[in-house]
Amino acid sequence: MSISAEEFDSARFRQVLGHFPTGVTIITGMAGDQPAGFTIGSFTSVSLDPPLVGFLPQVNSDTWAAMAPSGRFCVNILGAHQGAECWRFAKKGVDDRFADVAWHPGVSGSPVLDDAIAWIDCETEAVHEMGDHYFVLGRVVAMSHTDDDPKPLLFFRGKLGGYLMHE
Ligand SMILES: Cc1cc2nc3c(=O)[nH]c(=O)nc-3n(C[C@H](O)[C@H](O)[C@H](O)COP(=O)(O)O)c2cc1C
Repeated sequence: MSISAEEFDSARFRQVLGHFPTGVTIITGMAGDQPAGFTIGSFTSVSLDPPLVGFLPQVNSDTWAAMAPSGRFCVNILGAHQGAECWRFAKKGVDDRFADVAWHPGVSGSPVLDDAIAWIDCETEAVHEMGDHYFVLGRVVAMSHTDDDPKPLLFFRGKLGGYLMHE
């Protein structure tokens, strides 16, 4: 089926795309001397050698605008217990996203969330504008994951859920 630009239904486009389940990350960085971060589902691995990852922030994201000048970011992969953080870091205009979140600076200086099930610290390698988003490519400088039995947070059709392993 082909659709012309005039009749393109963006609400339906969102609805259809919502059928692709994603993990949930909080991408963090420093905005001057303040921690910044936002909820991002479009995280993806890009290359193993060299080690590259990427994500797509909206071009009108205040958080990306604030942390982009540092040239660094950290991808924090959320666990099933971090639903509240997922919503708080997605709310526009909230100043105290880090209010009750434990974190420490990673190798690059970007915040590493203590409760994340894994984190990937990056230097920004390239930023390309693509439609109403940027594609941000990062070179991995450090990473780690929890040794506990991790349960990931998943996002599907606008709602949060968990992972069930097939026996
Ligand atoms: C599960 C989930 C995934 C999201 N993924 C993205 C994403 O990939 N890219 C994006 O720009 N916004 C995404 N958002 C929305 C941003 O978190 C939100 O627009 C942003 O935090 C708004 O604040 P800002 O202007 O300070 O960036 C997502 C939100 C949720 C709840």
